[in-house]
Amino acid sequence: MNKNVTAIVGCKWGDEGKGKIASMQSEDATLVIRGTGGANAGHSVVYNGRTLPLHLVPGGITYPQTTAIIGPGVVIDPEVLLAEIEMLKGHGVPDIESRLKISGRAHVVFPYHKDLDSLHEFLKENPVGTTKRGIGPCYADKANRVGIRMYDLLLPEEELRSKIVEATKLHIQAFENNNMSVRISPKELAREYSNYGKQLAQYITNIEPIISNAIDNNNKIVIEGAQAFRLDLDHGDYNMVTSSNCSTAGSLCGSAIPPSALKEVIGIDKAYNSRVGNGPFPTEQPSSLITEGNGMLVGDVIRELGHEYGTTTKRPRRCGWMDCVILRSAKYTMGVDYLCINHLDTLGKIGLKLGYIKVCTEYLYNGSIVRYFPDDINLTKEIPEPIYETLYGGWEIDSSCKCYDDLPELAKQFIQIVENTSGIPVKYLGTGPANDDLIIREDV
Ligand code: IMO
Ligand code: MG
Repeated sequence: MNKNVTAIVGCKWGDEGKGKIASMQSEDATLVIRGTGGANAGHSVVYNGRTLPLHLVPGGITYPQTTAIIGPGVVIDPEVLLAEIEMLKGHGVPDIESRLKISGRAHVVFPYHKDLDSLHEFLKENPVGTTKRGIGPCYADKANRVGIRMYDLLLPEEELRSKIVEATKLHIQAFENNNMSVRISPKELAREYSNYGKQLAQYITNIEPIISNAIDNNNKIVIEGAQAFRLDLDHGDYNMVTSSNCSTAGSLCGSAIPPSALKEVIGIDKAYNSRVGNGPFPTEQPSSLITEGNGMLVGDVIRELGHEYGTTTKRPRRCGWMDCVILRSAKYTMGVDYLCINHLDTLGKIGLKLGYIKVCTEYLYNGSIVRYFPDDINLTKEIPEPIYETLYGGWEIDSSCKCYDDLPELAKQFIQIVENTSGIPVKYLGTGPANDDLIIREDV
């Protein structure tokens, strides 16, 4: 088996800047693939100087030699996808018709999935804080074997209607039992979604021959992971997670890529961390999201300097310091070979504003020092307490800084702490929002 696949995966709770690195890696790629999640993801890529927000189409589509695949593990909202295709065409991205391929096995998000998403959240004592894009209910239907796939949108309308009737039997009861005025009309949905099917038919296909060709010809394949390690259904902070296996193994599976074709895994993180939605975040800093008060708290400083507001939901993100303990787990659970640390410039500004920055290297948990993320916090009711190294001061990174040696000494010290604690070499450093605001350490 040729080993020609580069997987880009998020190391924390999403929004680490996967789009930029996936895009950079796609410059010489033949295939670019999204394999997990759906329109809960928000990946920004820069094309012709414009930032394009993408939710479903892999960012590498902006390179004209690529074939962009939406894999079988993705859950697709056809309305969002069609809008995205129009947006890409409007910005002049060429040959979308011939270069975009959608696996017929990918499942379809319907409006009732979004309503169920809201209902589940409403009924929970501790809601997850989902994106309400219908992701969980769509994957649940898939697991219950009543899901509707992209291929089904190409069936005669009457057959699609029968499938919708079958899929929604329990959902209708759930809405009625909770006095929700959601009305499901299989007939109308079948008409609307058949229409989407007609518009998307040219893209819907069996992706296997495309992938096997690329592997046999030793062409470069890039998997653009969505979500991240701590949001993974099995390896994340269950139940404050998303509904897919979005770490490396699940990304391969959802992309229809055999594990033995994997060449390297690039884990993406930010120099500070953020989380949107609920769930444990040991290094989170106090902010006006949590505490009412006057003036900017540390979490607010990080959010404002990092512009940490959601691409998908516009929600303000919770912010805190870099957590290297989680990176260490990411090395083993996700097989991360190299790290890309984005927002190094922002961390420098945070340091200048506050006079210090912190990096978490260990946790105090249950009376012991640990260097892994405990998985029994629901039993102990204890969030691990971070132990920090503190660096005093900050830094400015200007556009003349193009290699590691150009970096300020304090920034290098920060990177060394990350490498020593995580055990993963830092090969890429994001130093600003533009595509070329990136240091690549060729010697790593
Ligand atoms: P990208 O790919 C950040 C979070 C939600 C919520 C939890 C479950 O842009 O990094 P869901 O709607 O998936 O059922 O919500 O997961 N979440 C993300 N957070 N970035 C994402 O994607 C996310 N996708 C889901 O905020 O906490
Ligand atoms: Mg995002």
